[in-house]
Amino acid sequence: MKPPAQSTRLPVRIESKLPAVGTTIFTVMSSLAAEKKAVNLGQGFPDFGCDPALIEMVDAAMKSGLNQYPPMTGAAPLRVAIADKIEGIYGYRYDADSEITVTAGATQAIFTAIQCCVHAGDEVLIIEPAYDSYVPSVLLAGGVPVFVQMNVGANGYTVPWDKVASALTSKTRLIIVNTPHNPSGSTLQEGDMTTLADLVRGTDILILADEVYEHMVYDGARHESVCRYPDLAARSFVVSSFGKTYHVTGWKVGFVAAPAALMAEFRKVHQFNVFTVNTPMQHGIAAYMANPAPYRELGAFYERKRNLFRAGLEKTRLRLLPAQGTYFQCVDYRAVSDLPEAEFAKWLTCEIGVAAIPVSAFYAEPRESGIVRFCFAKKDETLELALKRLAAI
Ligand SMILES: Cc1ncc(COP(=O)(O)O)c(C=O)c1O
Repeated sequence: MKPPAQSTRLPVRIESKLPAVGTTIFTVMSSLAAEKKAVNLGQGFPDFGCDPALIEMVDAAMKSGLNQYPPMTGAAPLRVAIADKIEGIYGYRYDADSEITVTAGATQAIFTAIQCCVHAGDEVLIIEPAYDSYVPSVLLAGGVPVFVQMNVGANGYTVPWDKVASALTSKTRLIIVNTPHNPSGSTLQEGDMTTLADLVRGTDILILADEVYEHMVYDGARHESVCRYPDLAARSFVVSSFGKTYHVTGWKVGFVAAPAALMAEFRKVHQFNVFTVNTPMQHGIAAYMANPAPYRELGAFYERKRNLFRAGLEKTRLRLLPAQGTYFQCVDYRAVSDLPEAEFAKWLTCEIGVAAIPVSAFYAEPRESGIVRFCFAKKDETLELALKRLAAI
């Protein structure tokens, strides 16, 4: 028997805490891609496996009996490995005991960081286009999102710091920055970081730095982590994701690094919203991190895929935006169509057989710029098939 609709079955009235949240465009595009047998370059995750050695290390941890609760803050060997990695790359040392926490992916780190410092009525500055978890996390904390839109032009997406400066008020509690940036593929440069440091100096504004794509930076550039800037690191929660770094997005293991006083507040919330993260994954990842090659070589791995994909796209009428980091490539399709972005993405999926994500989905108020995002974290043959189909437009 078909269950009755929820509205008739529920004997009480529930007022949504997130009334504007519905089915996301990611779900819509993925089901459409499956239905139309389109190559799915919409979803932001790899269609290839991780290093079998990583699986063996997790397996070994499970078999050795590491299957009960780890410490609330994360397994000690993993926290030490994270602290060593950050110091090795960015030259900033976090204390593994008091300044690093292992999280259930970056999403939980972001959510928890926001809950622990944003009070009702506090303003949180969000730079758009923005990853979709920021706004709901701010709203659930009772915070007020304040939006500044990136400029987009021939040089791609850039942050208008003058507009950020004008949007700051005495109520601003947090600024969220994301570099390398999803969906635009842009990266913040040294000048951006020093400007940000100047803007917050002498205030109580905190920074949430979403750096989940930290190892995917191209063309010889370096990742400008807030950890390279002691002034910023001193007031930042820095978030990363092993899902992105080791091609295991489904494992949902990430981490946050922050000065001890901030981390103490983070952990007060963390222990009651997840308490801790599964044990064998943590020990497996810690063992795997003994070899820095996989994360140090990740940039070159994805740069080759980016180049392959861009070389194919250059033969189409789609205009390529710069892709300095992440595994996303944005294209301006206005030479091909004047459809709004969501309609164009649907047309591309149904008629051409390649799924993409409209960048308008990353804005609170829909904003049309004639740009869609492709994900190139795919096998070469997947990218080649997509390019073959895209050659038709
Ligand atoms: C910018 C950004 N932040 C955070 C996340 C979430 O990462 P995780 O899967 O580790 O929760 C993603 C995943 O797509 C992302 O693109």
